[in-house]
Amino acid sequence: MSKKFYVTTPIYYPSAEFHIGHCYTTIIADALARYKRLDGYDVFFQTGTDEHGLKIETKAKENNVTPKEYVDVIIENAKDLWKQLNISYDFFLRTTDKFHEKKVQEIFKKLYDQGDIYKGEYKGLYCVPCESFWTETQVVDNKCPDCGREVQEVTEEAYFFRLSKYQKRIEEFYEQNPDFILPISRKNEMLSNFIKPGLEDLCVSRTSFKWGIPVPFDDKHVVYVWIDALSNYITSLGFPEITPEFKKYWPADLHLVGKEIVRFHAIIWPALLMALGLELPKKVFGHGWLIIDGGKISKSLGNYKDPRFYIKAYGVDAVRYFALREVPFGSDGVFSEKALITRTNSDLCNILGNLVSRTIQMGIKYFDGKVKNTYKNEEIDEDLNAAVKNLKVIIDNKIAELKINEALESIFEVLRKCNKYIDDTAPWLLAKDENNKDRLETIIYNLLESIKVCAILLQAFIPETANKILDSLKVENRNFDSLYQEVDVYDLGKEKPANLFERIKED
Ligand code: MSP
Repeated sequence: MSKKFYVTTPIYYPSAEFHIGHCYTTIIADALARYKRLDGYDVFFQTGTDEHGLKIETKAKENNVTPKEYVDVIIENAKDLWKQLNISYDFFLRTTDKFHEKKVQEIFKKLYDQGDIYKGEYKGLYCVPCESFWTETQVVDNKCPDCGREVQEVTEEAYFFRLSKYQKRIEEFYEQNPDFILPISRKNEMLSNFIKPGLEDLCVSRTSFKWGIPVPFDDKHVVYVWIDALSNYITSLGFPEITPEFKKYWPADLHLVGKEIVRFHAIIWPALLMALGLELPKKVFGHGWLIIDGGKISKSLGNYKDPRFYIKAYGVDAVRYFALREVPFGSDGVFSEKALITRTNSDLCNILGNLVSRTIQMGIKYFDGKVKNTYKNEEIDEDLNAAVKNLKVIIDNKIAELKINEALESIFEVLRKCNKYIDDTAPWLLAKDENNKDRLETIIYNLLESIKVCAILLQAFIPETANKILDSLKVENRNFDSLYQEVDVYDLGKEKPANLFERIKED
């Protein structure tokens, strides 16, 4: 297999239970991974947890447990959540995994030995909840620009990474790779807020807390989170050892990250990779936040429900579909239970569910569950059949641009056309006259073919529902290379399958 696709989510802080914001990125990464697998790519989809740092150390103390004990519970829950959301990750990396810790130490030592890391003294303004250092110009009234809480001034002996040395190379890289950071607005932010003012060397160790990977040649220090965290994308593949996996999957095709961590992925990570002599990832996509009540859903603000509540109440695909469809990927968007219900009713229930149910019922009623192509196409069919034929190319393009909501919109546009086609061709009238039997069969067949194509594509986004549909249609070949292979005879059985989605009452 020659085509490969390596996609990552950020590794999440397990400082509290995961919320719908974490689900958001992970569902999107999953949809892309599934799409590429169905399209014949050799996919590596990685997620994980970023477990070191002061915040977790503090949280664990508050709870009278060790940091490891503290995160273990949260990670178990997170893995259960990913299971419930049908997240098909290939690898879950924990930064407390022994292999990762060892490899981070090797990376740190290599950078030190070659002069890219040096010892100095750190003075800075630190936000404990966000684990971020800020410069004078970034803080607002002594408050963290991200969360709005007070920052503290800190001075300590520390190791530094020579980020400034890579300024020019990063600028050149941006010029030569205009699509490296998307959306473009985020790239412009990087240039004007961080790169143009001049990159400063980056503090990469701490002595003020213990919960971290020890610096291998100076155990007073622990590796400060970003070298530890960012390296996850390569330690999982074996680096510093150049393994067959590393050769196969690196460079990553896509790092999905929230907008507030673009700078780590689009500046620090490239510089680290340049220092390590490695290729840079092909793309960093900085998405927006899901917000509720005007603010970011946030662990530290505690303003959210367990995502499992929504999965239980409305089904996994209602949650997945909402995450993928509601908000243009890149922008901020509002998450609310009401919006989730509206979206589920309008698209999944009214458009998709109704279409599948009506079509299968007609197949059973008029043809005893066996429907073949009788080739009695008329002009009215052409619009639908052409839309179906063009769909894959349209979706491919949308996926390449990460316009995931538009990809789904295009599929639902075709499903809507199918519903209209039923209304326009009025099969129930044709059924009244035996002479129309072949024409009627062609209509039902066209609908089944259209539903099949949409369901095969939808496997990437709402796999459970899509596979239920393909089961009802007894479609065996579900990869994209069978997308347009026509089924000879649809065998729908004799019994109408259960509704895919029940209408949810809005109150
Ligand atoms: N551990 C770092 C990432 C290291 S990656 C090498 C981190 N963790 S985090 O748990 O704070 O956030 C992880 C991701 O979740 C970020 O991309 C962040 O944007 C995303 N989200 C957290 N809350 C979110 C929303 N409310 N909405 C959408 N995404 C949000 O940063």
